[in-house]
Amino acid sequence: MFSPEDLQKGLRSKHFGKKIYTFESIDSTNNCAKVLASCDAPHGTVVITEEQTAGRGRLGRSWLAQPGENLTFSIVLRPDVPVSELNLLPLFAAVSLAEAIEQTTGIEVDCKWPNDILTREKKLVGILLEGSFKSDEIESVVLGIGVNVNQTIFPEEIKDKATSLRLEGRRKFDRVSLLQDLLFSLEDSYIRYSRNGFQSVIPQWMLHTSMIEKRIEISQNGEIIAGEVRGISADGGLIIDSGGVEKAFFAGDVTIVG
Ligand code: BTN
Repeated sequence: MFSPEDLQKGLRSKHFGKKIYTFESIDSTNNCAKVLASCDAPHGTVVITEEQTAGRGRLGRSWLAQPGENLTFSIVLRPDVPVSELNLLPLFAAVSLAEAIEQTTGIEVDCKWPNDILTREKKLVGILLEGSFKSDEIESVVLGIGVNVNQTIFPEEIKDKATSLRLEGRRKFDRVSLLQDLLFSLEDSYIRYSRNGFQSVIPQWMLHTSMIEKRIEISQNGEIIAGEVRGISADGGLIIDSGGVEKAFFAGDVTIVG
């Protein structure tokens, strides 16, 4: 099991991981981090577990990860940004994780809007952001991250869609030092984007995606809209050209066609 002492030894981030809660098994690190956030846990508090019994993904899905082989953790953030910028936060997380993974492992990755990281079109990292609000202001955000690290066998339902660093890099990765690299990168870019405005993540995100000009389908509330990706709006929406009309989408499941 992860120990706070091991994780903090060699930690280069100042706030992310300064306070760290480790578990052998827990329902969901996001649930735990949300409770901690409501009890005034400081910015950068990390919750990490070896196993989640009810790991959650976007759109009501489950997050399945083999215990003891991956990274499943959440960070409490206290961003000083208006609610209108909330949709930019997943992009910041995806870009900084993508940069850290490429640098540490040498594996080239691809960001998929809004908050996935893929490699060779298979999912490597999932991100789930959940906010708490008080009188229309963001009180806290829980940034939940699942990285497939050393898992080599995936359950039937995701085996064609998921991959891991070990499968891609053909070697095992040290989860403690990887977590430390991810936390350092997240903190470093969080500070930069907080200072320059989270909109400055958009050009960086565009550098890390292959989605631009691709034909996609986005399903939203039972409706499927087809179009070509044009970019990201100033408030983090995916701009799609559908039949000559450009529109920004803020939620939904995206499938790249062809
Ligand atoms: C997705 O791809 O739909 C998002 C997956 C997010 C999974 C992580 S694992 C740690 C944290 N705790 C959860 O219950 N979910 C997130």
